[in-house]
Amino acid sequence: MTDPRLDSLLHDCPGLRLKTDPADLEHYGRDWTRRWVPAPLAIALPGTVDEVQAILRWASAQHVAVVPSGGRTGLSGGAVAAHDELVLSLERMNKPLAFDAVDRTLTVQAGMALEAVHNAALEHGLIYPVDFAARGSCSIGGNIATNAGGIRVIRYGNTREWFFTDRALQHVLAHGAQAPFAEVYPYYVVTEFAAGDEAQEAAAMAAFEDCMEHGWVSDGVVSQSDAQAAQLWRLREGITEAVARYKPYKNDVSVRISAMPAFLAETQALIGQAYPQFEVVWFGHIGDGNLHINVLKPDDTADTEFLTQCEHVTKLLAGVLSRFDGSISAEHGIGLVKKGYLDSTRSAPEIALMKAVKRAFDPQALLNPGKVFDL
Ligand code: MLT
Ligand code: ZN
Repeated sequence: MTDPRLDSLLHDCPGLRLKTDPADLEHYGRDWTRRWVPAPLAIALPGTVDEVQAILRWASAQHVAVVPSGGRTGLSGGAVAAHDELVLSLERMNKPLAFDAVDRTLTVQAGMALEAVHNAALEHGLIYPVDFAARGSCSIGGNIATNAGGIRVIRYGNTREWFFTDRALQHVLAHGAQAPFAEVYPYYVVTEFAAGDEAQEAAAMAAFEDCMEHGWVSDGVVSQSDAQAAQLWRLREGITEAVARYKPYKNDVSVRISAMPAFLAETQALIGQAYPQFEVVWFGHIGDGNLHINVLKPDDTADTEFLTQCEHVTKLLAGVLSRFDGSISAEHGIGLVKKGYLDSTRSAPEIALMKAVKRAFDPQALLNPGKVFDL
């Protein structure tokens, strides 16, 4: 242990598991944004609540900033440790703790993967409805901390509607998925119904046929098995992975569903003008007014040049959003990526209130500092 601060940490928390290898510092110090160079002090992997408390007591006494860490699948730079912070990884605290059959509540440790929470709920005949593609690696603590996907499932377990463009589909197909239709269409929607009985299933089919008759939908396919449903979901869930190699600049924005058509038209025009040189891939969660506008970096454009151009357009987009009363963040959280734009959708008194709450709980500003605003 070279850094004397770590000797003092081990003194205060004997037996604590620590990682300090350069490869570990890099791995745990960054999230899926891959934009900031990780430089944490060390990675602490507590196994108990007592150890978490000892770490935080030590950090407070030593004035060391702490970045809590789950699956680090976030896309807004919320779990980045780039300034000598101690990363507090909860990956070892990943177990279910209790189930209460009367309250129908499941208590789990913060580091449990979302998928494991789904499975644990199912074992008790319950459904945990929040769900998204990173379910195997993201942790429930991070999901709750960032409110991830909290509004994605519009109604408990009933309906989910995800939306995406042909450009997005082409990337997923190039990545190995199967095309759903012989024809190419500009937009695709995956809709899942949890039909309780035959009448509900018939109503869903009738709604689909009605959309066809009105010409709102051009074509459709209904899965006949769980395997087919998984194949269809792959078309949507595979988008992030399929475009990852282009280091996309991610705008994660939202407006009320009623404002969506006008907002889309205006944003599409803005992006067409602002990014003629870049490929823009759209997808999102149309059912709750949530859009991911991914700008793909051309191989021959330098990272810094690309970021400068994208950030300029983000400012213009923030103006459109504020006119539509939307938000610069839909479901990915604020993080380093968006903190510079927080004031475009939150008023000065609102931000002052948020800062007051943060100060009350974290007077030394040691807990994940600078991820939403600077105190
Ligand atoms: C998704 O909707 O698939 C996730 O939010 C990931 C992403 O936006 O890339
Ligand atoms: Zn999403």
